[in-house]
Amino acid sequence: MKTLLVASSLLLVLGGALAPREVFAPAQQEHAGQSKGEHTPLEERMHVMEDQLKALRRSLRDPSRVVDSLASLAKFQEAALVAKSETPRMSAKVPEGERAKFVSDYRREMLHALELSLAVERALLDGKHEEALVRFEELRNLEDPAHSKFTEEEK
Ligand code: HEM
Repeated sequence: MKTLLVASSLLLVLGGALAPREVFAPAQQEHAGQSKGEHTPLEERMHVMEDQLKALRRSLRDPSRVVDSLASLAKFQEAALVAKSETPRMSAKVPEGERAKFVSDYRREMLHALELSLAVERALLDGKHEEALVRFEELRNLEDPAHSKFTEEEK
């Protein structure tokens, strides 16, 4: 019984030590062996962001729907927060010497998106509806240039 206890606590300790690496490793392998039609974890988050921006575009037209807009912003921010620590699939194709900069530029741009979403939120909370619309447009305008820079265009 004692041996069993020692063995199981050892397993627990080892399990705990291995867990962080296991959390990261499978996602990286997924990226490398990505087959067409599958979504990367980053793409999944981007789809959430896209859905929430679409919902926001509608709810922001109606100042009485602030509660809906705030709910969409919260979901957008949650997805963007996770997405900013992911690595774009394209980074594997970037020359090794430029990769660290590529990933940090990606992260900065995601931070920018998050910051703009926070600015929309603050404006809504302050009752500044026009300001919220302006910040929202800035947020939407990040998408295309960011995709040109950090994704591979289908040619
Ligand atoms: C702000 C609004 C944004 C929206 C609505 C959006 C939406 C999307 C969507 C729907 C996809 C998936 C495409 C697919 O499944 O083929 C995608 C992919 C991607 N987006 Fe965005 N995006 C936004 C902003 C950004 C920004 C600011 C960046 C960079 C900082 C970025 C970087 C990427 C990357 C790298 C991918 C490819 C995923 C991968 O490499 O695994 N996006 N985005």
